[in-house]
Amino acid sequence: MMAQLIDGKALAFLKKQETAEQVKAFLNQTGIQPSLHVLLIGDHPPSRIYVQNKKKACELVGIHSVVHQLPFDVTQDDVLNLIRGLNVRQDVHGILVQLPLPQHLNTQEILETLHPKKDVDGLHPYNLGRLLMGKPLLVPCTPQGCLQLIQSVEKNIQGKTAVVIGRSLLVGRSLAALLTNYDVTVTLAHSKTKDLKEISSKADILVAAIGSPEFITGDYIKNGAVVIDVGINRVELEGGTSCLKGDVNFKEAATVASFITPVPGGVGPMTISNLLINTVKAAQLQSSSS
Ligand code: GUN
Repeated sequence: MMAQLIDGKALAFLKKQETAEQVKAFLNQTGIQPSLHVLLIGDHPPSRIYVQNKKKACELVGIHSVVHQLPFDVTQDDVLNLIRGLNVRQDVHGILVQLPLPQHLNTQEILETLHPKKDVDGLHPYNLGRLLMGKPLLVPCTPQGCLQLIQSVEKNIQGKTAVVIGRSLLVGRSLAALLTNYDVTVTLAHSKTKDLKEISSKADILVAAIGSPEFITGDYIKNGAVVIDVGINRVELEGGTSCLKGDVNFKEAATVASFITPVPGGVGPMTISNLLINTVKAAQLQSSSS
């Protein structure tokens, strides 16, 4: 039996339509158009493309967006001062710092400077703490997208086992906490995990967020598992061209799994639709607390 595809592009499109309705309703009720400010620092080509896509998605649903393009050698103080200025502006509802940052910048200090209610990436310690406590406010976008993709094919995930491979803050750690809040039994595995194949091949839900193209072969996957591929790896091909590959060997996985996300068109579009959802939520939070 071949696995069925989980269509992230289609689900993200539905979520965007819902968000566009919410933006309209919020504007009608309050006269306020939600706005997102993105800090893009340096010249990291994938980041430039991601930010372009985020801006386009904002336009589609009626969110006002501004990109602050800062030079690679911007100082820590200049970044912090820009954020402090945005934190106190009433017309700014969401602030996103596109990662990764140049080496000389202190990412943690920058994330901690964000106003927690404007932190649409959900990476401020306040938001991560709330997630860990089972009382989330703004949830990181990619983990939220993984959960929605899983729930789109598995209505009741309570008591299921999940193995999340990759312990980044942006994905693995946050997703482990999020799934735990839904009563999933979670194993957070990583590059130092022993017997990874044995552990992952027992999971009802397998999430690969490793950053290594096609690392997960068929023998890492339980028969009938739901497989979520978070990887976006650009692989150079002969003849100077390149293509995108996930962390999962799709061909092999599709013969074992029951459901699987493609790359591209799986997790990526969900990250963006959740950014839009979080921006509207941030605007709502700020209008209700002022
Ligand atoms: N870099 C890759 N993905 C993301 C994301 O979801 N948010 C931010 N801020 N940076 C990223």
